[in-house]
Amino acid sequence: MRDPVFPHRHLLGIEGLTPIEINHLLDCSERYIALNRGEHKTTEALKGRTVINLFFENSTRTRTSFELAGLRLGAHVINMQVETSSVTKGETLIDTAVTLNAMHPDVLAVRHSDSGAVKLLADKVNCGVVNGGDGSHEHPTQALLDALTIRRRKGKLNGLVVAICGDVLHSRVARSNFYLLLTMGARVRIIAPRTLIPSGIDRLGVEVFTDMSKGLKDADIVMMLRVQHERMKGSFIPSVREYFRFFGLDRAKLSQAKPDALIMHPGPMNRGTEIDSDVADDFERSAIREQVELGVAVRMAVLEILSQNNALHAQTGGAT
Ligand code: NCD
Repeated sequence: MRDPVFPHRHLLGIEGLTPIEINHLLDCSERYIALNRGEHKTTEALKGRTVINLFFENSTRTRTSFELAGLRLGAHVINMQVETSSVTKGETLIDTAVTLNAMHPDVLAVRHSDSGAVKLLADKVNCGVVNGGDGSHEHPTQALLDALTIRRRKGKLNGLVVAICGDVLHSRVARSNFYLLLTMGARVRIIAPRTLIPSGIDRLGVEVFTDMSKGLKDADIVMMLRVQHERMKGSFIPSVREYFRFFGLDRAKLSQAKPDALIMHPGPMNRGTEIDSDVADDFERSAIREQVELGVAVRMAVLEILSQNNALHAQTGGAT
């Protein structure tokens, strides 16, 4: 039976989801936290189902997290790390999708360096697809795990001031977080050098700052972003030293935020570029390890719901 609250076949992005759907995904994730902390970390919720991780881009935590999530639900999990460098991306993507689809997976977790590629693939298969990050577009499970972390630490999302700082231009994490946080009634600020602010971003309803001390003022959440050198064609920052001086999070800049402000980072961190080790490793204030932990619970909930929703789809030969 389809999930009555989240009846979708795919999770391609946060854009367009309702507060009820987001809360439901967070509530379902919450159920798996205790299981993951216990001694016996498995259920049989997805026994006999198949999850394929199809990663066209490097990943440590997201791929491992999807893998563990599938295994802890009792599914068969296959990992594919695809090398894209020497092949035409469009062809490879569709060919691979059609080939994998013929093996009847229940859910594909896909990461690709091109924005929109995961949607393209989802249109060609009749299993569920979850976007593990497409270019600088969306990374929905990251935004969900960030939201779960904030909700557990602060008890709510509504009304919080969340400052998202750094390489916003190239960040799918930032984009998915904007959609989620604004939908849930949080106030979102971005703080970045002018070269790393996407044009027209203020139309989404976020407040834009180029000065850390102003943007961090009384923030409840300080979310740092990695400087994504690999997505930069040309020079966006003068030097790492200068970047850290103006935009790197250290104790002095953090003192502008609320005294109990939570420090977050999706990882991997560039220590000394966007964040100082002193604040990253402050386990009172930093929720960075918790974000990774809760990521597994979020992906368990998403895999479970999508496989349920797609079981019906498969039975009816794709007619739903
Ligand atoms: C992020 C990603 O891949 O978009 N990392 C992650 O999923 N944990 C952010 C990043 O790479 O900087």
